[in-house]
Amino acid sequence: HQARITLDKDFTVAEVPRRLFGSFVEHLGRCVYTGIFEPGHPAADSQGFRQDVLELVREMGPSIIRYPGGNFVSGYNWEDGVGPVADRPVRLDGAWHSIETNAFGLHEFVEWSRRAGTEVMEAVNLGTRGVEEARALVEYANHSGGTYWSDLRRKNAAAVGLPEDPFGIKIWCLGNELDGPWQIGHKTAEEYGRLAQETAKAMRLVDPTIELVAVGSSGSGMPTFGTWEHTVLSHAYSEVDYISMHAYYQEHQGDVASFLAAGVEMDSFIDGVVATVDAVKAAGKHRKQVNIAFDEWNVWYLHSEEGAEPDQHAAAEWVEHPRLIEDTYSVTDAVVVGTLLNSLLRHGDRVKIANQAQLVNVIAPIRSEQGGPAWRQSSFWPFARMSQHARGQILSLAVESGKMHTKRYGDVDVVDAAATWDEHSGVCALFLANRDISALSEVQLRLNGLSPASVRSAEVLTIPADGDRHTANTEQDQSAVQLVPLDSVSIEESAVRIELPALSWAV
Ligand code: AHR
Repeated sequence: HQARITLDKDFTVAEVPRRLFGSFVEHLGRCVYTGIFEPGHPAADSQGFRQDVLELVREMGPSIIRYPGGNFVSGYNWEDGVGPVADRPVRLDGAWHSIETNAFGLHEFVEWSRRAGTEVMEAVNLGTRGVEEARALVEYANHSGGTYWSDLRRKNAAAVGLPEDPFGIKIWCLGNELDGPWQIGHKTAEEYGRLAQETAKAMRLVDPTIELVAVGSSGSGMPTFGTWEHTVLSHAYSEVDYISMHAYYQEHQGDVASFLAAGVEMDSFIDGVVATVDAVKAAGKHRKQVNIAFDEWNVWYLHSEEGAEPDQHAAAEWVEHPRLIEDTYSVTDAVVVGTLLNSLLRHGDRVKIANQAQLVNVIAPIRSEQGGPAWRQSSFWPFARMSQHARGQILSLAVESGKMHTKRYGDVDVVDAAATWDEHSGVCALFLANRDISALSEVQLRLNGLSPASVRSAEVLTIPADGDRHTANTEQDQSAVQLVPLDSVSIEESAVRIELPALSWAV
């Protein structure tokens, strides 16, 4: 295939929102327990934080991490996770049919985030709880002291040997997936819209500096998609700053072409939500711009076969941190993750926050074993490199690419692209995927207004010589899929030629 990509350093979309490279830690399976937190593990510090996992998190470079759920938050009492650990109640978590010891809670997560260098994005429970518990949590987290909840924070911090100062949490999610019948406390759009509006108002009265995310649709396939956003924002537009989006993609019955085109679906899903948000803005004569927090996205093998109900991931017995949804990611999955990141980046004018779900073990780029090692999945690489290199301005690209046919989305571009230009460092970063699983693609890149001097680095993730598109990293072979140098890049005056191997993601 051939592709011609033209960019101009003055044709920009927006500044790269750093929060686009976010992740998610839920009390689900082994994300917290035996993931980021495992007292007694040889690599754990005195707090029980696994340093091997922490090092991989720093290398991957997430900017912001959503916590503590997910479905979990809709039945969670945040008060259970604070105070002396011995006094914290053990509870049944109905969302994931697990025993929650509460040995890890808000103070531990805030401290872990400080060490990881990540911002906290906190979700409140609007499933079983409401305005009162949410505003109490903001006071507990962000007020300096001298009031009931802020003094309780200081006391509880001292009890666990952590800093007493306010957490300063800026971004707050007003619940999780309340449009979903599976959610504890599932609501209609009317019910949720009013609750979100009043909760947002009360939270902001405690701390006017916070930013609030209203729950959008759990996926574009939800029967209420479109009307949900419209109704919720018709109530809460003035009170919120973002509306959330969630999307998970997988290969259905061997239809790899459609799977590789998941980014096309993500593009149109985002465009649909932007249109709905702007319709509410216009009708309500609002001046303020509500943007998007795509606060759950990833590849997830959720449906075992086409048309089936989502797998019941709950364990049969009530146990602590069961092994749940620990998907293993292949070369194909990593290329799709790269294209999803491209889609998010291309929409950086409206998508200001995005969180790959999740960080460790649960549909995650990082895996760990209890008492054992931690390693990078294939999907680690596109995230790490985009978080590292996407800097400055997002560029608007003119892409003319050969097409491939997909059952779900018709003809789509074989070559998928996103790019940034950083005036300060003089670096132009290009993120490319070749969706064809058997043929290479030749890309000609024309850079208007730039005179490329050198190729600073060029790397590619593709099918390894001794593997196939299903090859994945495992505990035994932790680097079967990794980035390798991309040698086929050459500069010709103001153009760059790049040869992309079949099924590849390159930076
Ligand atoms: O990320 C896994 C789950 O997916 C989350 O708990 C939920 O919000 C979504 O359905």
